[in-house]
Amino acid sequence: MLGLKLPTDPRWVNIVEKNIEEILTDHAFCEQKATSTAISLIVSFPEYTDLVQEMTALVKEEISHFKMVHDKIIERGWVLGRDRRDDYVIALLKFFPKGGSRTTQLVHRLLYAALIEARSCERFRLLSEELEDEELAEFYRNLMVSEANHYTMFLGFARQYGEKKEVDTKWQQLLEYEAEIISNLGTNEAIHG
Ligand SMILES: [Fe+2]
Ligand SMILES: [Fe+2]
Repeated sequence: MLGLKLPTDPRWVNIVEKNIEEILTDHAFCEQKATSTAISLIVSFPEYTDLVQEMTALVKEEISHFKMVHDKIIERGWVLGRDRRDDYVIALLKFFPKGGSRTTQLVHRLLYAALIEARSCERFRLLSEELEDEELAEFYRNLMVSEANHYTMFLGFARQYGEKKEVDTKWQQLLEYEAEIISNLGTNEAIHG
């Protein structure tokens, strides 16, 4: 249902399980970046009224996710570490050429956001099904539902503001490219690692 072309290798969960502190740190920053993305879309595209309304709600939701993860870190007696480099996102954001009309740029940013939400959702589902830590598995089950809704919303906006056929073609191409990136990952304790 997420459209992803390549599922995550389930062995990734075994790697994650050995270092919960590391995955929570990486995850906390993913939520913080999701918040920043929503704010940045409001700043860059203020005339898209529906988008601004939804992004305002999203800022609140993503920062509340950040707090939920931060609370988990505190509960376990840890302190939030520094941000990690996200090679997945760095590689992904190279796909669409820079420039183009404002609408084109908006569509590209919405498609990137949709894909990052979709992959996060897939990874959270895996964590919810495979983690032996029951409490954490439940935590990821709830977050998985939120991220699935975000994926649908971003893709919906891309189709609403862009030309639908062109958007669908770009989306398929981006999915293919993402499968290539993910085929080289799955080896470290990061949400997109
Ligand atoms: Fe989130
Ligand atoms: Fe999200």
